[in-house]
Amino acid sequence: MAEKKKFQAIKGTRDLLPPETELWNRVEQTAREVFGTFGFGEIRPPIFEPTELFARSIGADTDVVGKEMYTFLDPPRDLDPLPRELLEGKKERIGKLSDLLPREVISLRPEATASVCRAYIEHGMHALPQPVKLWYTGPMFRRERPQKGRYRQFYQIGAEVLEMVPSFAAKDAATAGGAKSAPKDAAVDAEVIEMVMAFFARLGLEGVKLEINSIGDRECRPKYVELLRAELLKVKDKLGPDSQRRIETNPLRVLDSKLESEQGIIAGLPKIADHLCANCAAQYAEVKRQLGMRGVAYAENWRLVRGLDYYMRTTFEITAQGLGSQNAVCGGGRYDGLVELLGGQPTKGIGFAIGEDRLILSLQEAGKGGTALGRDVFVAWMGEKAQATAIAAGQKLRAAGFRVELPPVEQKFGKALGQADKLGARYALILGDDEIATGQWTVKTLADGSQAKMSEAEFLELLRKSL
Ligand code: HAM
Repeated sequence: MAEKKKFQAIKGTRDLLPPETELWNRVEQTAREVFGTFGFGEIRPPIFEPTELFARSIGADTDVVGKEMYTFLDPPRDLDPLPRELLEGKKERIGKLSDLLPREVISLRPEATASVCRAYIEHGMHALPQPVKLWYTGPMFRRERPQKGRYRQFYQIGAEVLEMVPSFAAKDAATAGGAKSAPKDAAVDAEVIEMVMAFFARLGLEGVKLEINSIGDRECRPKYVELLRAELLKVKDKLGPDSQRRIETNPLRVLDSKLESEQGIIAGLPKIADHLCANCAAQYAEVKRQLGMRGVAYAENWRLVRGLDYYMRTTFEITAQGLGSQNAVCGGGRYDGLVELLGGQPTKGIGFAIGEDRLILSLQEAGKGGTALGRDVFVAWMGEKAQATAIAAGQKLRAAGFRVELPPVEQKFGKALGQADKLGARYALILGDDEIATGQWTVKTLADGSQAKMSEAEFLELLRKSL
């Protein structure tokens, strides 16, 4: 006999169950509505892509690409059927790695910005009216250490605005957006941020805080990074091993450090705002002015550098309450040049992604979960004739959009009413011989226990008015 085995969801993954999935749907529907009012259409890219797409976009030295991606070879082995041992869960290595090398290396997506840019190029979206505004929702995968608000399969709701730079302006955009385009880009940045804030406001998310920064462009950032590296080398001995390593690989990431002992040192480092080139400084000032015009409150955080390599100029992060240490509910920024890096035309880009798991957690902590999957009507029926009427009533009510629970076998009325109560039904429709004979249905309002007789049409009317 086969060994009795209890299966569990893999660490860092989880089942989303009703009634919580109601909230997930409400959140996604609200995103669809709000983003739609800003002219965004939905894109659904695939869940796996060539590993190189992510490595090139996000950066090979980032944690996401270097440590956290689920990567595998395709096909994983020769095309003969999988050996039984493998299907039965035995963890033996099959084949030699060298046999597998010529195959394609693919990864589960850790984020979707790279995919959206790939799709923009692949479908020639530069020929559409610009900018192209796209939003998406779906699972992302990162092999991080799971904790509250951090999972290995998590969900994002994101949006991207892509705009090809016309060739006559490409020179101006050589540093990915020159002086002339600064005000326009700033307005686009501000509108994207305004949209995500409007979405959070619509959901009633509490304790929302927006932080913004500018991390410069290809002209000014390298100089700042060198300055930062030189300053960091002076204090190298006082830094932890991670930051020491980052002095070489990516000094900007030192600013991200949460290590208590490093905070004093970081506070004394040169700030990028003081080293922006004229174009970047003008754009950053304009982003702030535009946010002000839109009534969006923000705080500046010069240490906000973000963990993905494709960003330039505007970066932002939004936190919400009730999330503990993983309190970033949204991150985003500008990534002019990414489409070109992936083989497309010079193109500007700005976008964000919301951590949907964290958004849901924060709403639940604030009591805005709205959980119970209630029923509008519980049909309590007894007798064969009553069943036919109950089924017909159920069909009509469901077609009219009401939630109906129709027991498959007859139950004593007392038991049926008890179940209606447990399910949180608003009304119990009681159908017995009497009701069938007279055509007058008994309707019990469960909240106050009151009972009334009425026709089918009157009951439908009552439902429409009271729900
Ligand atoms: P990100 O900051 O890596 O940016 O992720 C965005 C959000 O996804 C985070 O703020 C967080 O809420 C959520 N998130 C990230 N990792 C996890 C995890 N392991 N568990 C739960 N939630 C998580 C991006 O992904 C960029 N693609 C955003 C973007 C779009 N920038 C421009 N366009």
